[in-house]
Amino acid sequence: MMSLNQKNELAQVVEESTLPIEHNGGDGWTILHGDTLQIIRAFKTQVFDALITDPPYASGGWKPAEKNRTTTQKYSSMDPKNAPPDFDGDNRDQRSWTRWMAEWLYDARKACKPGAPVCLFIDWRQYPSITDALQWAGWIWRGCVVWDKMTSRPQKGRFRQQSEYVVWGSNGPMPVSRPVGCLPGVFRYANPQNRTHVTEKPLQLMRDLVKICVPGGRILDPFCGAGTTVLAARLEGYEAVGIEVTDAYYKLGSDRVRFALEAQSETAK
Ligand SMILES: C[S@@+](CC[C@H](N)C(=O)[O-])C[C@H]1O[C@@H](n2cnc3c(N)ncnc32)[C@H](O)[C@@H]1O
Repeated sequence: MMSLNQKNELAQVVEESTLPIEHNGGDGWTILHGDTLQIIRAFKTQVFDALITDPPYASGGWKPAEKNRTTTQKYSSMDPKNAPPDFDGDNRDQRSWTRWMAEWLYDARKACKPGAPVCLFIDWRQYPSITDALQWAGWIWRGCVVWDKMTSRPQKGRFRQQSEYVVWGSNGPMPVSRPVGCLPGVFRYANPQNRTHVTEKPLQLMRDLVKICVPGGRILDPFCGAGTTVLAARLEGYEAVGIEVTDAYYKLGSDRVRFALEAQSETAK
């Protein structure tokens, strides 16, 4: 397992002419600090075995005034004074968001090996747009996994919005001979308590999802937030590269992954 934190080892995935990129990491993982749209173009071709990510949904309402609220206002019921920091990139309207998604997904596909799976978190509002963007970028759209959050605000005369979705597909044909078993289509996990990130995903959900990747493969999460995918990937024996643009989350995510992996290796001693 390489230490993706070292410049010469980072050069396995990033074109050397584009280094240095500010980064943090350790054995088998790194988090790059910057804008995915730019960094993703610096990757070499076919260096990742899976793309698993939770992009900014740019959701949280229909009208511009609703969408342009802060991420804490949109996605959290906490008092902003006690809430995790807000994050960037969540205010695009539907057309701009779809175009932007297609753009980075196009470059991400070139960085992924043939047959690599892609998994994208999304809510019901952006579901049609994300499946368009995925296919415009050249990926094969293969289905949808349900994340049942189990609780949500009751709505009189309406269905509860208690699920989010993982739209998934692959970079071209995805042979059934890959050494990956049968995975469920529905996952039931409550939202994490004491979140580091305002839209943090449950760690166990991510540990289950990363298993779509071939064993020991290298996973890319270009919107890694508090590093949940990176941490889950390492705990399941994969290499992981994350990208994060918001300064606060670049730091919080890197620290969280490092502390959790150090604690795990102490326990294992
Ligand atoms: C939905 S959150 C991901 C949360 C993550 N799954 C977790 O469990 O912590 C999306 C993240 O993408 C980051 N982001 C937004 N635009 C970005 C960009 N252009 N490049 C890199 N990161 C970006 C945001 O700062 C935010 O932390």
